[in-house]
Amino acid sequence: MMPRKTTISLIKCDVGSLAGHHVVPEPLFNIAGKNLKKAKEDGLISSCHVFNVGDDLQLLMVHERGESNPEIHKLAWDTFQEAAEKALKLKLYGAGQDLLKTAFSGNVRGMGPGVAEMEIEERGSDPVVVFAADKTSTGAFNLPLFRIFADPMNTAGLVIDPGVAGGFKFEVLDTVENKCVVLRCPEEMYELVGLIGTVGRYMISRIWRARDGLICAVGSVTKLSKIAGKYVGKDDPVMIVRAQRGLPALGEILVPFMHSYLVAGWMRGSHWGPLMPVGVKNAKCTVFDGPPRIVALGFQVANGKIASDDDGKPMVADLFDDPAFDMARREAVEYASMLRRMGEFEPARLGVGQMEYTTLPQILERLKERFKPA
Ligand code: 13P
Ligand code: 13P
Ligand code: MG
Ligand code: MG
Repeated sequence: MMPRKTTISLIKCDVGSLAGHHVVPEPLFNIAGKNLKKAKEDGLISSCHVFNVGDDLQLLMVHERGESNPEIHKLAWDTFQEAAEKALKLKLYGAGQDLLKTAFSGNVRGMGPGVAEMEIEERGSDPVVVFAADKTSTGAFNLPLFRIFADPMNTAGLVIDPGVAGGFKFEVLDTVENKCVVLRCPEEMYELVGLIGTVGRYMISRIWRARDGLICAVGSVTKLSKIAGKYVGKDDPVMIVRAQRGLPALGEILVPFMHSYLVAGWMRGSHWGPLMPVGVKNAKCTVFDGPPRIVALGFQVANGKIASDDDGKPMVADLFDDPAFDMARREAVEYASMLRRMGEFEPARLGVGQMEYTTLPQILERLKERFKPA
């Protein structure tokens, strides 16, 4: 018998938000919930879960149609369109912010919404974690993905689990040249760190287990600002990671988030800010439009679906809704206050090339005549 193939699609979009770039309000969830429920009844998808992180509406869908399926992407696109129309009626902030093209062409990639998709052959038991972050970019996942899949000081399994022996292969996207390279760890660890330390340019897009090519992690790598040709918001990334049995354990996947670390984004996509792991109820940005938040949801993929409870409701664990991440949250507040004391001085503000908002060209133009040889 052919092993069952199941696809996990996480497609997200900022279609408009309440009180600035703060949070997705109820009426937009209702539209997403209604459309995905209908898609389930029609047999297009087998499970779904709608959530948000900050102002980004997240559609988690499990189905058997493979990656980049036009019907699945159309479902997401139409849902975002409908939600954006509602947002416009309600005069919500940034209505339709990430919907950059008006006509759907079969795939939402390159149109504004962020996408992470993974087709898997279901293992005996397949635990999956999806991560979604607001007020930052895909490069924010380079550090934790390196820790999870390559750092033996993080992931005990790299050292003591024979199933993990041989390490992992990382696909790295160069977002400037639009080229990818695959690097193998531990053999090419230094080359990998050399690239992915440059978080604004090189981004991990996929990870496979080296010994057999099993897909382990997928990130969203759209750069919204590039698609639009001008700033319309940082891409607020998502990723899908598989856990356990010859892969990093759930707990090893979560360890990198015990401490806050700095990511690019925050206010106007132009500042370094501390990433704060939170439960979904706290996934809303406030101080200086942040601090950048990240949520992690865990579930089991079982027989083409998300394993459900007795009422048929998908069972989804809100993994950062846990006191074990209090220290990281506390650190995030401390780092935030330290950085904000520096105002618009680097390194609190991003370097010129990485800022999504800047008045520097206008300032230079205005002062052009007044610059004299020094
Ligand atoms: P179990 O023996 O409970 O499966 O745990 C193994 C493991 O992966 C712990 O993280
Ligand atoms: P979003 O990308 O989350 O919409 O945020 C934009 C922004 O400018 C925040 O200050
Ligand atoms: Mg927004
Ligand atoms: Mg956002």
